[in-house]
Amino acid sequence: MKKNKINIAIVGLGNIGSYLYKYLNKNKNYLTKKTNMIPNIVFVSAKNKSKKRKFSIPKKKWLKNYLDATKKKNIDIIVELIGGADGPAKNLVFSALRNKINVVTANKALIAKYGDKLAKIAEKNKVSLEFEAAVCGGVPIVKSLKEGLVANSINKIYGIFNGTSNFILTSMDKQNLEFRDALKKAQSLGYAEKNPISDLNGDDVASKLKILTALSFNSYINNKDISVEGINKVDRTDINNANLLGYKIKLLGVSHLEHKKVTQRVNPYLIKKSSYIAKIDGVLNAVIIEGNPVGETVIQGEGAGPQATTSALVSDIVSIIKGKVRPPFMISANKRKKIQFENIDNKKFSAYLRIDVKDKHGVLSNITKTLAKNKVSIKRLIQNPFKSKKNSSIVIITHEVKDVLLIKSINQLSKKDYLIQKPKLIRIEKI
Ligand SMILES: NC(=O)c1ccc[n+]([C@@H]2O[C@H](COP(=O)([O-])OP(=O)(O)OC[C@H]3O[C@@H](n4cnc5c(N)ncnc54)[C@H](OP(=O)(O)O)[C@@H]3O)[C@@H](O)[C@H]2O)c1
Repeated sequence: MKKNKINIAIVGLGNIGSYLYKYLNKNKNYLTKKTNMIPNIVFVSAKNKSKKRKFSIPKKKWLKNYLDATKKKNIDIIVELIGGADGPAKNLVFSALRNKINVVTANKALIAKYGDKLAKIAEKNKVSLEFEAAVCGGVPIVKSLKEGLVANSINKIYGIFNGTSNFILTSMDKQNLEFRDALKKAQSLGYAEKNPISDLNGDDVASKLKILTALSFNSYINNKDISVEGINKVDRTDINNANLLGYKIKLLGVSHLEHKKVTQRVNPYLIKKSSYIAKIDGVLNAVIIEGNPVGETVIQGEGAGPQATTSALVSDIVSIIKGKVRPPFMISANKRKKIQFENIDNKKFSAYLRIDVKDKHGVLSNITKTLAKNKVSIKRLIQNPFKSKKNSSIVIITHEVKDVLLIKSINQLSKKDYLIQKPKLIRIEKI
């Protein structure tokens, strides 16, 4: 059989783009055997042409203006590896799809924000938009939802979707590091970016969760109804307290269909030490899917980094080479459901509260009264005096109560003059 070439342009040659470039060149024969097509990088582009790179790029392959990739007649696939929801990545992907060029991207922020609009254009122009690498790096969750688990109606998808924050929590737990030192370690090992804000404030997990929600429930992406909180307020005392109480703290993304409504939430949670997900440590990601008829399915693997992400990018490139064009979210844009979403106000949680206070007469009774007024009842209470004996830390595990009442209690307690810092609330997830 005659072997054809598939012409690829890679835009963005940072961590991921440069690894993909080298991988495709090195593994040409291997991929050709598997696909009967020769992957052929025809153009590359990045911001700064004169930047020193670890590999040489033939002059004729360099595009001065990255948008020119969308105007070339001989390009089959553009791989967007710039990043960011707006700016050049957005311009490139919209323009490529409008010009009927297939797109592969690792950009979760872009897909979470514009995925529905982009999918419409891709479908109208009968080209592919693939984004396996945008969600949990090497964990093949997007394809699993679109293909392997297609028979199922899914009622819950959750897990650990951010390797950097999981690495930080694990280092605080296992090496007894302070948050700042654990972050520095993650940065020195190349797990966290120089500006790691979206890993720490929950935004990175939120983008991935919104994409998984749309794929799991055949809905449109919902950017509005989602509770997002990161790990930046968790300290070592919380980790130690959790351990003493039989829990681990993990940043979870959870999307759950209950009573025909979906809740999306990203928060640090206390989870039982004995649970499967409590044992996912370091940079690993894990996604758990509950579906009917399949039951529970777990996929675990490296969530980030050039190697794992390239594995996902190549899988998307091969899908385009091999397959016929399919809607990016599996179901065509006009047939996806407008399901109802609700926020977590009325969802019931047990919770861990940590209230650090000046050790004064009447403080404990004032705290318990404030909680009781909001119908928050106490299951367990531990008072840990500080070394100075002037202050103490009160740790409370509550019974299940509506989230809105937990928040109200925290807000009221925050105003008390006996507090030495804002009280902590970490919900307990029953898994
Ligand atoms: N890093 C990971 O582990 C990981 C994992 C999964 C997904 N992702 C996603 O993969 C994408 C790329 O991430 P990365 O870590 O490789 O980022 P990165 O190292 O910051 O690389 C970004 C690249 O984009 C280029 N670029 C920036 N502005 C540009 C512009 N105006 N025009 C053309 N090129 C421009 C940069 O050019 P210069 O080289 O000239 O500066 C650089 O090559 C992001 O969407 C990210 O979310 C990353």
